[in-house]
Amino acid sequence: MPRNFLYEVPPTAGLPPRFGDLLPARTASLAARAAEFLGIDDVQVECSGTAALVVALTALQRRSKRTGVIVPAYTCPLVAIAVAHCGLELRLCDLAPGSIDMDADKLAALCDENTLAVVPTHLGGRVADVDTAIACARRAGAWVIEDAAQALGARFADGTPVGTRADIGFFSLAVGKGLTTFEGGLLVARDAQLRAELHRCSADIVPSDLAWEFKRTLQLLGYYALYRPAGLPLAYGWPRRRALRAGDATAAVGDDFPLTIPLHRLGAWRRSVGARAFPRLRDFQHELAERASKRCASLERIPRIAALRDAGAAHGTWPFLLVMMPTRAARDAALSALWTTNLGVSRLFIHALPDYDYLHAIVPKADVPNARDFAARTLTISNSPWLDEARFDFLLGELRRAVE
Ligand SMILES: Cc1ncc(COP(=O)(O)O)c(C=O)c1O
Repeated sequence: MPRNFLYEVPPTAGLPPRFGDLLPARTASLAARAAEFLGIDDVQVECSGTAALVVALTALQRRSKRTGVIVPAYTCPLVAIAVAHCGLELRLCDLAPGSIDMDADKLAALCDENTLAVVPTHLGGRVADVDTAIACARRAGAWVIEDAAQALGARFADGTPVGTRADIGFFSLAVGKGLTTFEGGLLVARDAQLRAELHRCSADIVPSDLAWEFKRTLQLLGYYALYRPAGLPLAYGWPRRRALRAGDATAAVGDDFPLTIPLHRLGAWRRSVGARAFPRLRDFQHELAERASKRCASLERIPRIAALRDAGAAHGTWPFLLVMMPTRAARDAALSALWTTNLGVSRLFIHALPDYDYLHAIVPKADVPNARDFAARTLTISNSPWLDEARFDFLLGELRRAVE
């Protein structure tokens, strides 16, 4: 069996771009399309998920002198960078074993009278336990911000859209998140007064910046040009393989973020591209969920391998499958066979937050064994339609070999 198939599978399932998205045309606004999609009144558009989080934290800072922000110890480095940008104190909560959720007891112990916000996080499209975070935060008088950057379109068991249960929620429209404006973010809040404050705060701290918008416009055009099997080696496959050959896993997954956050307005043309793509998102996500359900079942037939799924009747989104291997050695064996192929196998974040060298100045040291274990034992498998059955069967064979 060849180790490399003919074309490159992306690591996550992006909504297939259509040339028509790029044409100027009258369409509902991105905010209106997003509000309709989420079934809520008001969605605020920002230039990235990180910018949305910065606006949210800044608005809460205007309400309170508290400074602590509790986040899962395994999450996107941009979350830590956003907290540092706001001059707030990052506090890390370890995960529950083998889970994306913060450990409930540890979270309860961390919440105190200085806690400004708790940030439960729907990693990889999986639906996190937001109710426990809300209960802990309420006892301490803190707010809850749902990090739904990776989960636009997911739903809790009662049908509530993920991102809309806590006080504030945000979503990312970055590349790799399904629907994309190359970079972009959506910010929502339950309470009308808080929503008004978020809008005011954004107007105060987020300037227009033509240079950034020009750069992002070119990047979005490049994305539409290259997001196809023949284009992806150039945009994704070759740079990733070069980083892996150089032994730089952090660069290979794009975890090496700058420590400064671009804050600017998302321009009208990119908004219209996102708005034109939105009506296709729901059907695409159904297709992804069906494929993921079958493939999780196939993965679970391999002894000692688990595919992370949602608890109960919750419906997450499925940009990729998050696979938990029995040991770090088995995970590394699978990656050494598969990471440099073009089959869409990768990792989520490389480290728990305290373990990134470049974040040492802004992330506290912390004893977070479960977050480290999660980082050490997980890998991701793309849920892109381009990963066909032959390719997926090949992956299953390699995973089986890695645990034998
Ligand atoms: C969990 C999580 N939170 C926040 C962000 C930041 O979103 P953005 O990339 O749109 O700034 C990301 C992005 O990858 C993420 O994965």
